[in-house]
Amino acid sequence: MPQNVSRRRALRLLGGAVTAAAAAAGAVGALTSTAAARVRAAAPRPARAGRHVDELVARLTLDEKLGLLHGAKDPHSLGQAGYLPGVPRLGIPPVRLADGPAGVRVRARATALPAPVMLASAFDPALAREYGRVIGHEGRALGQDVLLSPMVNLIRTPYAGRNFETFAEDPLLSADLVAEEIRGIQGEGLIATVKHFALNNQEKDRTTVDVRVAEQALHETELRGFEAAVAAGAGSVMGAYNKVDGVHACQNAPLLTGVLRDLWGFDGWVMSDWDATHSTVPSLTAGLDMEMPSGRWYGTPLRDAVRAGAVPEADVDRSVRRILTVLDRFGLLGPAAPARPVRDARDGARVAYRVATAGATLLRNEHATLPLTGAAARSLAVIGPTGAHPLASGGGSAHVVPDRADSPLAALTARAGKDARVTYAAGERLYGSPLPATAPAASFEERAVGAGETWRYEGTLTTGEPDEWTFVVHYSGERPQVVVDGTELFPVRDVESELFAGFGLLSRAPDGLKVRRRTLPLAAGRHTLRVTAKGGTGGQRFRLRRTTGATRALDVAEAVRAARAAHSVVLFAYEDAAEGRDRATLALPGHQEALIEAVTAANPRTTVVLNTSSAVTMPWLERTGAVLQMYYPGQEGAAATAAVLFGDTDPGGRLTQTFPVSETRHPMAGDPRRYPGTDGIEEYSEGVRTGHRWYDAHGVEPLFPFGHGLSYTTFAYAGLAVTPAPGGGLTARLTVRNTGRRTGVTVAQLYAGPSPDLTLDQPPRVLAGYRRVELRPGEVRHLTVPIAARTLSCWDPARPGWVLGTGSRSVWLGTSSRDLGLTARATVLPG
Ligand code: BGC
Repeated sequence: MPQNVSRRRALRLLGGAVTAAAAAAGAVGALTSTAAARVRAAAPRPARAGRHVDELVARLTLDEKLGLLHGAKDPHSLGQAGYLPGVPRLGIPPVRLADGPAGVRVRARATALPAPVMLASAFDPALAREYGRVIGHEGRALGQDVLLSPMVNLIRTPYAGRNFETFAEDPLLSADLVAEEIRGIQGEGLIATVKHFALNNQEKDRTTVDVRVAEQALHETELRGFEAAVAAGAGSVMGAYNKVDGVHACQNAPLLTGVLRDLWGFDGWVMSDWDATHSTVPSLTAGLDMEMPSGRWYGTPLRDAVRAGAVPEADVDRSVRRILTVLDRFGLLGPAAPARPVRDARDGARVAYRVATAGATLLRNEHATLPLTGAAARSLAVIGPTGAHPLASGGGSAHVVPDRADSPLAALTARAGKDARVTYAAGERLYGSPLPATAPAASFEERAVGAGETWRYEGTLTTGEPDEWTFVVHYSGERPQVVVDGTELFPVRDVESELFAGFGLLSRAPDGLKVRRRTLPLAAGRHTLRVTAKGGTGGQRFRLRRTTGATRALDVAEAVRAARAAHSVVLFAYEDAAEGRDRATLALPGHQEALIEAVTAANPRTTVVLNTSSAVTMPWLERTGAVLQMYYPGQEGAAATAAVLFGDTDPGGRLTQTFPVSETRHPMAGDPRRYPGTDGIEEYSEGVRTGHRWYDAHGVEPLFPFGHGLSYTTFAYAGLAVTPAPGGGLTARLTVRNTGRRTGVTVAQLYAGPSPDLTLDQPPRVLAGYRRVELRPGEVRHLTVPIAARTLSCWDPARPGWVLGTGSRSVWLGTSSRDLGLTARATVLPG
């Protein structure tokens, strides 16, 4: 919704009043509720809801109002995450809320788009709008009214489990993309929810961690994306699980009211993340309008609080009005609600494919390993379990039931054609292999236990050599008990751990059975093995399998033989990220490093394709021919991977996060207070130096810098000229030529140095602008890239407010944060 400029200016000033108090205490925590309350009292009332909405509110009973403020069980669930029953007697329809960031998550099939981090890698806001358009259209077609997406929390630590669900470590890029994606979603009539407000930058201890961040850094980094989302008209904001300055985000008045309403003028509604509400009156008063997914706090307790006079009914009305105003704006109230469209699966697939090629990021390409042409295209070994079973998406609430998801092996074989020889070796058996003959293997392969029955086995397992065993249990129904030498391997833990353990895509076998793995050393000799499987009410199927050092060696040997026999190798490496857990290491999981070492030693013309969520360390890098980062490429990922590998299309992606050389050379290394936090508190002491800014500030060499990504062609940049623009910004002009022999993509990146006129903390360089272009061989393009005044401004807690960094500033042009071939100086004039 377009914002009224003068009103925004006024609100900004008022927000300033809040942050003046904050400055005194030196952190966002200083946005105390007293200060926020002061601002609330002074702030103009939010834009008055339409008369229609006011009339509705006047006719609602208290119970009907409360029914709009919290989730409930959907009697006709379509498999979505949330539901409000509405008030049919007054034409307020039921409202269905579905995840999520990579497509519409319901029971039915939908387009599984590439992970948002892959969309971001295209550096293309117009593509983000297309991505949003597809989700918006499908959401409406699939019976939904609200989308629980986009996620715009910054990638702060490479360990964070949801880095694939969000965009980037850079605030400018995140802000541009989130705004366009929201326009795309909402243009189709689906209400977008930007999440998770704010500072939910990790999964470890996500419901308890207490984040401390200085006010300047907060505004300049994490909040930029949220602010852009609000300015783009997002209907809804989801509060985060974590605490900020000692207060849970869903009852944090400085954030929910001070920043969101008073500073930014947000006029939609705030809902909690799922079970992230912690109180009734404090939450409502702080600015949380809706509890999801139940009414634990906003059901009976809120009714009691209103009746007891602990909270005025006017506060309830205010939240109801906010919700109804958005529903009204989307035409959802009353008899003439917009008709639901029909899904357009072909359009979804087309956009999914486009994003997967546009975001494909070629990190390394030595000796023209790629594209696969000539002999390389005619003789190929495909290696890796996820070469056969695609890892198309990350796990958790962003997972979508895809229309399809082909195997990369099939796509590569089809693309190579019938005259080519394409072989396959798994290199690793993710789902184990049958137990050895020393145990009655057959009885563990396909067990079916009838309803109400119990099956028991008690015997021995004899091993010839000491070895590391990974037991793999596949099951439906209740998990069987497996006890080796008195240790229960797969105990059922608390509900949340079980939920998260089941989130990863590799926690399901290809035939749908659930899978759990447990690794332990076994000495040579006899071991006791006890298995108990219960059929429960619906019966149960299970398999018990294993891998060992010995079976792994055989699998690696098979992969090495395949690599030797082929001209080139494409090795698929994976990391199965999911909501609810952070990674413990940046290394590829399991024994993949050893597999890559063995295969590249056998055949250096090896391309490693990474289906991973975020940065990984690559001690094996120098031995590879090429590395292609494909993240989770969605349902069309196999065809897109094949197209990029064979050079049918240029790899269009650039890194939206820095890849560190090692676990000790990144912004979070060596300081547990910074990550994952100590004694429940986490300090964002990197301040405004987030992501690539940190590497520059500390002179740390990355493995691959932010913005990096290779093309199959070459480009030459020239003629950088930067001039002042009206309103305090700058305009950069430059020329780029495709100097190679193929059509290709380049992303021109502009970085700005600090202002001499500010004493505020400033990083050595910030991303100031960018432009993605595709050029034919020899083609020349003259580009004009605006640099916004906001990007050249700092948040000054003393004012408080944005202050333009005037004076003579350096501007660099290049193709990554570390490849900056051209420099200019320009004077930023007061706006
Ligand atoms: C996630 C949200 C999601 C919600 C509903 C939560 O666990 O953090 O991102 O929208 O579940 O599925």
